[in-house]
Amino acid sequence: MSPNLHHRSLLDLQDLSSAEIRYLIDLAVELKAAKAQGTERKQLLGRNIALIFEKASTRTRCAFEVAVHDQGGHVTYIDPVSSQMGHKESLKDTARVLGRMFDGIEYRGFHQSVVQELAAHAKVPVWNGLTDEAHPTQVLADLMTMEEFADRPLHALSFCYLGDARFNMGCSLLVGGVQMGMDVRIACPPNLQPPASLVADMVVLARSTGAQVRFFTDPVAAVQGADFVYTDVWVSMGEPSGVWAERIAALSPYAVTEALMRATGRRSFFMHCLPAFHTADTEVGKDILARFGLDHMEVSDAVFESQDSIVFTQAENRLHTIKALLVAALG
Ligand code: CP
Ligand code: NVA
Repeated sequence: MSPNLHHRSLLDLQDLSSAEIRYLIDLAVELKAAKAQGTERKQLLGRNIALIFEKASTRTRCAFEVAVHDQGGHVTYIDPVSSQMGHKESLKDTARVLGRMFDGIEYRGFHQSVVQELAAHAKVPVWNGLTDEAHPTQVLADLMTMEEFADRPLHALSFCYLGDARFNMGCSLLVGGVQMGMDVRIACPPNLQPPASLVADMVVLARSTGAQVRFFTDPVAAVQGADFVYTDVWVSMGEPSGVWAERIAALSPYAVTEALMRATGRRSFFMHCLPAFHTADTEVGKDILARFGLDHMEVSDAVFESQDSIVFTQAENRLHTIKALLVAALG
C-alpha cells in the first residue's frame, strides 16, 4: 500500500517515515522519466501555490515554479519586502489569509518556528524551502541522486558530510541518512556539530533503521570508504559577514580537494547543494580572495569540475523531488 501523503506538510524530514521518503523518491524517478519521455500527466490543474522567499534562491524557487507549471498549476512569488507579512501583519494572520486563497504554501526563511507557525494556521500543506535548521526538499533530491549514481540501494551506501554541520544541510543530511539506514559520517570541528538533542534522537532512530552515525574531526579518516563526499558553504544565508574569518580558520582543513577525494580509497562522487565557492568568480569569492588569499573555499575547482562531481544532477533532481512532493500532497 502506498503511504498517504495527501494534504501533508513537510517542515522537517522527521515529519516523514522512511517508507514515505522511499515513496517520494520512487515517484520522483517516475516523474523524471515521464518528463523526459513527454508522457507527464498534469495532476495539479487548477491548483495555486504560494512561494514565500525571505532569503535568496535560484534552485528551490525555480524547481517549485517549473514543477507546478509542468503539472498545470499556478504559482505566486512573494518576495521578502513587498508583502505585509511580519511588517504590518502577523504571521498567524498571513497564514490564515494565504490558506483561504492557495492550495499550498512554500516558505523559505530564517527560523524553523516561523514555518511551523505558518503550517499551524494555514489549513493547507506548507513545505519548508529552507530554514536555518532544515532543508528537507534538498535532501530528498540528494537521496534520489545518490541512488541514481550508485549500484546499491541507499541502506548499503555511505556518505561523508564535511563543513558546518550545525546548520540546515548538516542537520537534514543527518536525518535523511539515518532514516534511510545509511552509513553517515560527519566531519567538522566539535563546535560545528549538529545540536546535541538532534544527534541523540538520530542515534536512537539509527537503532531501528540500521543506520550508522559517526562524527570525526579528522577529514581524511572520515571519508575513508565513503561513496559520496558532500559539502556546503562555510557561511550560510542570514549569518553575519563578520564570521568569515573564524569559519575559514575552522573549516579550511575540511575543504574538499583532489587529495581528500583520493582518501576515500574508492570511486566516490562529489556532492554539494549549491551555490558553491569553487572559484573566486563571484562577488563574495572576489572579496574572500582579496581578504584571505583563497581562490576557493569548501571545494576546489578541480573537484567541482571533475568527472566525479554530480552537483548538477543534484540540482536537476530538486525539480523532480519537489514535483513528487506536490503531486503526493495535492495531486
Ligand atoms: N540548494 C538550494 O537550495 O539552492 P537555492 O538557494 O538556489 O534555492
Ligand atoms: N547552508 C546553506 C544552504 C544553501 C542551499 C545556506 O543556508 O545558505
